[in-house]
Amino acid sequence: MIKTSASLLACDLANISGELSRCKAANVDWIHFDVMDGAFVEQITYGSPVLKSVRAATDMFLDVHLMVENPAQQVKFFAEAGADLISFHIESLSDAAETLKAIRALGVKSALAVKPKTPIESVYPYLALCDMVLVMTVEPGYGGQAFMPETLDKIRALREKADGMGLSGLSIEVDGGINTKTAPLVKEAGADVLVAGTGLFKAADMAEANLLLKVPQKGATC
Ligand code: DX5
Ligand code: ZN
Repeated sequence: MIKTSASLLACDLANISGELSRCKAANVDWIHFDVMDGAFVEQITYGSPVLKSVRAATDMFLDVHLMVENPAQQVKFFAEAGADLISFHIESLSDAAETLKAIRALGVKSALAVKPKTPIESVYPYLALCDMVLVMTVEPGYGGQAFMPETLDKIRALREKADGMGLSGLSIEVDGGINTKTAPLVKEAGADVLVAGTGLFKAADMAEANLLLKVPQKGATC
């Protein structure tokens, strides 16, 4: 089943609780919480105290994307703040296997994220420790960027590898530039969790946009 995850980066941050209600009413599946530390990527966004307030304001599934240099140091704060899933980057400084195990030990779903230019093979040794892999479809750091079609082959290869390993339950999330035009491409390639910031929050009708991201479409190009 295809799920959508609304990236709060594109919402009205002065009215997070209203925006969470809007997502719920639009039948969005997950809330995507982008954490940037000003080191792994240029910008700084928000951290675990903000996630704690988000947790108090919604019962929706909280999908935390750590774009930070030292995720191993951070996971316990985000788990305590109410994350349901934590993803961190294979390109970060932390040991991938240890960090994935630490996330699961905290009772949270674990995921590895991979930047567009990093070979997808880099996550293969860790797949058994992952509930999900996040394939970035833009360079991390900013919302509102254009989808990179060259990432489609990585999604395909990962789906094939996971199936070959008997890990058909592994979710593949895509993040960056996902809209009604690019959604059919990533779904066809094997993605099942679609992050959208601009595509949902800036849509004229969020519920309609959410539905269009999820339903099968034919003949779209990016
Ligand atoms: C980028 C973030 C994304 C971003 C997606 O570094 O990880 O989650 O907010 O935004 P859109 O959907 O606008 O490309
Ligand atoms: Zn993200």
